Amino acid sequence: MTDLDNGFFTAAQSGDVVEGDKLEVELENGDYVLLLRVSGTVFAVCADCPHQDTPLSEGMLDGLILTCPVHFWQWNIDTGDMLGPTELPLARYQVKEINGEIFVRTAAEL
Ligand code: FES
Repeated sequence: MTDLDNGFFTAAQSGDVVEGDKLEVELENGDYVLLLRVSGTVFAVCADCPHQDTPLSEGMLDGLILTCPVHFWQWNIDTGDMLGPTELPLARYQVKEINGEIFVRTAAEL
């Protein structure tokens, strides 16, 4: 299902996004997003590392902290803020979870 009126695209079924795990999906508009569930809440961020486009699905998630597998830079998936000496934010997207489905809007970052 696509909800083009407000820019949300179906991203996954709720059961596909497991607590503490990561799921990379391609939306109907061709954007790749990484879905993560922490404490029951689903977050959506850019699937590629903002440093050198490494797939963040291969990274590590510890609570709200996502670590890139290449240079181990870290981001808070709730704020998009980078932890460390530089400021290279991670794009975050709006998420809706309704009736067992997850929808993501990438048209505007949070
Ligand atoms: S490629 Fe991800 S931190 Fe360098």
